[in-house]
Amino acid sequence: MKKRVAILISGRGSNMRALIEAAKDEDYPAEIVLVLSNVADAGGLDFARQNKIATAVIEHRKFPSREIFDDAMDVALKAAGTEIVALAGFMRLLSPRFVESWRGRMINIHPSLLPAYKGLHTHRRAIEAGEKFAGCTVHFVTPELDDGPTILQAKVPVLPADTEDTLAARVLEQEHKIYPQALRLVAEGKAKI
Ligand code: GRF
Repeated sequence: MKKRVAILISGRGSNMRALIEAAKDEDYPAEIVLVLSNVADAGGLDFARQNKIATAVIEHRKFPSREIFDDAMDVALKAAGTEIVALAGFMRLLSPRFVESWRGRMINIHPSLLPAYKGLHTHRRAIEAGEKFAGCTVHFVTPELDDGPTILQAKVPVLPADTEDTLAARVLEQEHKIYPQALRLVAEGKAKI
């Protein structure tokens, strides 16, 4: 039985796309049952719709609090029979109650070699610090931001001529490789908290 996966996005959704493409393989242990966005015009929604995947838009700004917004997402996730949640460029902090309720069943991709460079502007900070390597991490989500146990990482060199954009592109290529691999490990029960 394939695990039922929901992907949460806020923007262009290139990692979402990598997961959707991977899940087209009949041997892949997960199927994408829902793409949920907190932004109505998130670019990734179109790709999901074209691929006949159910989509939902739940705009955080229409809710009085983070908890109530998270509750609304939880209802949509449960209605879709979600077993695993994959955050893919989802730009909202999640309430502890929501995170705890999906503990061990929610994963995220972050564009740094965690625990280095949690938070935003990871590539700019890595270049400014003179790092020789950068990369990306797929990890289980825990209440602390960008802090849960690592599932997979990929490392790339930082080149002397790199700008934030060239480094981001090099890292993103790896993100698209390791996110489907990490989701596979979680869906197969080979990676767990
Ligand atoms: C990626 O760099 C991801 O690591 C970070 O946000 C970005 C989302 O890009 N969490 P995309 O929407 O998947 O293209």
